[in-house]
Amino acid sequence: MSICGQIIAGQLGKILIREKSGQKIELGDLLVVEDDRGLALIQIHNLYYGSQISQLARELISGVKLEGRGGGLQFLEPQLRNYVIAEGKTVLRISDNISVPKILPDFFNTVRYTTKQDLEFLSVPENPVYMGKIRSGSKIIDIDVYLDGLDAFTHHILIPSTTGRGKSNLVKVMLCSILGQDRFGMLVLDPHDEYYGRSGKGLKDHPKSRQGIRYYSTNPLPGTNTLIINLNSIEPEHFEGILSFTIAQQHAIRLYKSEYGDRWIESIVRGKGVKGVNKVTLSVLQRIIRTSLSIYFDGEEVICENRVFSNSAGEATIHDMVHSIEEGKIVVIDTSKVGDEAELLIGSIIANAILAKYQRYKSEGGLTEKVPVSIVIEEAPRVLGSNKLADLGDNIYSRIAREGRKFKVGLLAITQLASVIPRQVLTNMNTKIILGNEMAPERRALMDSAAQDLSDDDRNIASLDRGEAIVSSIFTKFAVPIKIPLFKDYLENCVQSVNDRPQTVFIG
Ligand SMILES: Nc1ncnc2c1ncn2[C@@H]1O[C@H](COP(=O)(O)OP(=O)(O)OP(=O)(O)O)[C@@H](O)[C@H]1O
Ligand SMILES: [Mg+2]
Repeated sequence: MSICGQIIAGQLGKILIREKSGQKIELGDLLVVEDDRGLALIQIHNLYYGSQISQLARELISGVKLEGRGGGLQFLEPQLRNYVIAEGKTVLRISDNISVPKILPDFFNTVRYTTKQDLEFLSVPENPVYMGKIRSGSKIIDIDVYLDGLDAFTHHILIPSTTGRGKSNLVKVMLCSILGQDRFGMLVLDPHDEYYGRSGKGLKDHPKSRQGIRYYSTNPLPGTNTLIINLNSIEPEHFEGILSFTIAQQHAIRLYKSEYGDRWIESIVRGKGVKGVNKVTLSVLQRIIRTSLSIYFDGEEVICENRVFSNSAGEATIHDMVHSIEEGKIVVIDTSKVGDEAELLIGSIIANAILAKYQRYKSEGGLTEKVPVSIVIEEAPRVLGSNKLADLGDNIYSRIAREGRKFKVGLLAITQLASVIPRQVLTNMNTKIILGNEMAPERRALMDSAAQDLSDDDRNIASLDRGEAIVSSIFTKFAVPIKIPLFKDYLENCVQSVNDRPQTVFIG
């Protein structure tokens, strides 16, 4: 086993290792120290030079060399006198059991790279969701990393990174790994229409896609569903925290609801009168509905411009979606052609229906048999952030973030801006799959709310390449560095081994 260094100093949380000459310890490397109590796993978070020669002498020698005066001048035994110091922290102790390190590894012990065998203690989750392989720096160790979906989905997952680092790719890989198992009900709100694979590879190319996915779009592909929702399915509370209404407008909506029942939106749009609502309020409501949902009355009929809402069709859509989710299917909704508010409203209608159902199951004692549900939402600060929308008050998404776990309903929130999500909500997202981020305030927000102490990992996070991530979760013993595969490569593997149960490994 190749020795790469030796412990020369340090303290708990900051072990200093002298690099052996010829080795190249990397930022993020997982190294192993063996002693008579077992193994200690050290993760490197900083690198710097060390030298036995004084700074002045080094400056002089380099000056002589640079100015061409030294001929073949060399340091005396350069590999002994100049070296690299790697700074790391012990993240795990592996002996008969796995524990959080409370003792220092033996002083002056040699350190080596982690091998596959070192990590083979990792156990198998019952409900595996694939994320990638363990990574040491930029080297991949051939151990698959899975989270247990029952725990992770219901306790919420956050996937933060700057744009283009591989968030969507990761979610595709995760969805692909559970597709066809019918163990998790997933609702995917897809504003970029990138998951199903309308153009190019996507979840549709999985061999079990026919049984495992329901795809809804205003522009459906053959064999998929039309996204059309009947206006009667919309309740006033679905707008909570999504659209802003004044007290007078809320009052008016209540009056319309009690006067016209399910046809309340249509009646507002058609300009029907109700006692107690003046014309101005009515026309403001009509304007809000027109700008946010593209629904208006042209004098003869109700027009739904984006074709998502209808006053005549789509009565069963929400029911069918909820049914599929309960059956453990992945319901992907292409919201690329509908506006922001309409997308959030559609999500709100479905999420409300699911949460209400699961709350009922819980009160009736039948929740244990139900599959966990996760709602995938892009640009999560739209509904969770302390920004414009969240100021509108509580919405179904923030309610799920707060209390969904009790009812087996969780969020899988994707974001480029974790820092605008309130600390309390961030902390509630108990699994964070952190991809690269060059913005310091973003990294700080994540480190402050992570399940493990990541205070030394700033450089590690900043230097994450595309597809490299750190999984920090209350369900993992340490923040696990992973390399996520490219979706199309992973898909190919799935196609080849669709009938084999994966060799699963659970970090926990
Ligand atoms: N695991 C990976 N390995 C290698 N390359 C990757 C990986 N994941 C993503 N990429 C590359 O990065 C590109 C962007 O990935 P992706 O669309 O998933 O990023 P994103 O974080 O979702 O971006 P955005 O914030 O814009 O939605 C991909 O097209 C792919 O080429
Ligand atoms: Mg994306």
